[in-house]
Amino acid sequence: MYSRLWLDETIDNNNAVVTNNGFDADSVLLKNAVKELTTINAVSGLNISLVKCDREDLGKEGFEIEKNGDVYTVKANNENAVLFGTFRFINMIRLNKSFDAPVKEVPVSPLRMLNHWDNMDNSIERGYSGESFLFKDNDIVIDDRTVYYARVLASAGYNGVVINNVNVKQAACDLINERFIDKVNKLSELFSSYGIKMFMSLNYASPIDDPEVSSADPLDEKVIKWWEKKMAYIYSKVPTFGGFLVKADSEGRPGPFTYDRTQAEGANMLARAIKPYGGIIIWRCFVYNCRQDWRDLKTDRARAAYDYFNTLDGDFEDNVIIQIKNGPVDFQVREPVSPLFGAMPHTNEMMEFQIAQEYTGQQRHVCFLIPWFKEVLSFDIHAKDAKSDDTTVLGVVTGKTYGNALAGICAVTNTGNDYNWTGHDLAAANLYGLGRLAFEPSLSSEEIAREWIVLTYGNNEKVIDNVTKILMMSWPAYEKYNAPLGIGWMVHPEDHYGPDPDGYEYSVWGTYHKADHFAIGVERNSTGTGYSTQYNEPLKSMYEKPETTPDELKLFFHRLPYTYVLKSGKTVIQHIYDTHYEGAEDVKKMSALWQDLKGLVPDDAFERVTKRFEHQVEHSERWRDVINSYFYRKTLIPDEKGRPLY
Ligand code: GCU
Repeated sequence: MYSRLWLDETIDNNNAVVTNNGFDADSVLLKNAVKELTTINAVSGLNISLVKCDREDLGKEGFEIEKNGDVYTVKANNENAVLFGTFRFINMIRLNKSFDAPVKEVPVSPLRMLNHWDNMDNSIERGYSGESFLFKDNDIVIDDRTVYYARVLASAGYNGVVINNVNVKQAACDLINERFIDKVNKLSELFSSYGIKMFMSLNYASPIDDPEVSSADPLDEKVIKWWEKKMAYIYSKVPTFGGFLVKADSEGRPGPFTYDRTQAEGANMLARAIKPYGGIIIWRCFVYNCRQDWRDLKTDRARAAYDYFNTLDGDFEDNVIIQIKNGPVDFQVREPVSPLFGAMPHTNEMMEFQIAQEYTGQQRHVCFLIPWFKEVLSFDIHAKDAKSDDTTVLGVVTGKTYGNALAGICAVTNTGNDYNWTGHDLAAANLYGLGRLAFEPSLSSEEIAREWIVLTYGNNEKVIDNVTKILMMSWPAYEKYNAPLGIGWMVHPEDHYGPDPDGYEYSVWGTYHKADHFAIGVERNSTGTGYSTQYNEPLKSMYEKPETTPDELKLFFHRLPYTYVLKSGKTVIQHIYDTHYEGAEDVKKMSALWQDLKGLVPDDAFERVTKRFEHQVEHSERWRDVINSYFYRKTLIPDEKGRPLY
């Protein structure tokens, strides 16, 4: 059993008249488009013409929708694009959008992907919504739910999915073996029948288990041949396959460093082997020393990705994309944008966000992340040697800045086999939102929120209003009651949930705040770890000094006394007290806005979200009191407003 997310109920006979003008009637993509139009409730009785055209401005995936008299026309260059156009058309009808003028949409991001961290034993790494629906008991699952999922992704504009965890647990590439290959093919065909390319994560050390090879050295002929054979095998069985995502030399994963090879040598070996079949290798930049000694004052984890990768610019094959986490550390509620986005003009780059709310409330707290992602994408990273005048992160990851065709935006997904898919019903707004954002980044967060709300709960103005307010308040609220001013990491190390201010101090993970009674933070400017010097000007100078560093990142870049006065005019310590009280109050306001919707949203959804809010209210107060008391005990500076500290 599963809920219907934002994709409308279907009916058997909706009386829509659909005509096909020029598309291949045997194409499964076209058939799926027609099926949507002839079963979805909302377009019942409409007259729709699908028209194949030959227009450069629409590209591979763009479409144009217009209305002439009573006939709606969806034009596109191919069957794949007309399917995307069809889903958009259906959503537009449901959203009551106007067709007075033709609506032309061309996706801005070439790749729009989700990364599942699903394991074959059903578990999900950092999964907060049940178990995997793609795997069960070491087997692949393909059922109604999978079909619905593919439709849902296409209707939000996604065109890629990685089905398994980057930490591949199996000793070898289980999924590429005879036992599973037919099911892998079936799953890949299912996704591609909705315009979505399927990818898998691989275990870089796989050839080690073959006694004839016993190595994973990327320059070893035997290893090269082994992968060539593997790629030939997979494409002979799974012709629609997209390629591989690789986590190497990170958190215990094997990689080229074992053999004194660079990350580029590692990636290129796989890229050359997969190239004849049109496949791509997505190589993650999440490479750092995870066995750090906290007494080592020189190493700074934030520097790692840039230090390992920036000197490799231009060394990667053209079918490699490097996938970079939005920030330099690890999906905290606030981090600066990774400087790597500004540093590699000759390399394909892709953005990695996380909608699984690992550090942002684990889908028990509401936290609509689209406003955060928009801030990251629109950030001017002053990309070096830009070929266009767009030097933003968005420009880089959509290929505009450097004119590369391979680029994109992805997120670690937040789905599981829970009835509502995402644990918290409102977390589905992140799933919908990321797809829409990657397709059309100029949409505002409010527009995206509104679309999701109407498609999910219908047109009631009060529901639209209240849920929009909740979503828009949620990320700022979470940031307020979390670790302050970009410091991050004040969570329990074992599950990353709940406040534990010293949880990561004195550990091996390289994420320290070093709070004492006088100051907090690590100096990351040129006199400190030098992290800020990885940015291009004028960012480098901006982050050099506390005065010019934006308040919300002050403690990420600088070690400051608690009495330091922020741009806001408040001291660091008073800022901490105030924001923590505000954040917890905001949660009560969000909860009240939801309570107002009783009877206006389905009862079961109302109850589920109510329960989550009960927890969030209590848990945000815990965050407030633990963090505030921690700092009070360190500093003995009282709250100006005299509120309780413990
Ligand atoms: C985080 C997360 C891990 C994950 C890793 C990654 O550190 O906690 O579970 O494997 O990111 O992105 O690879």
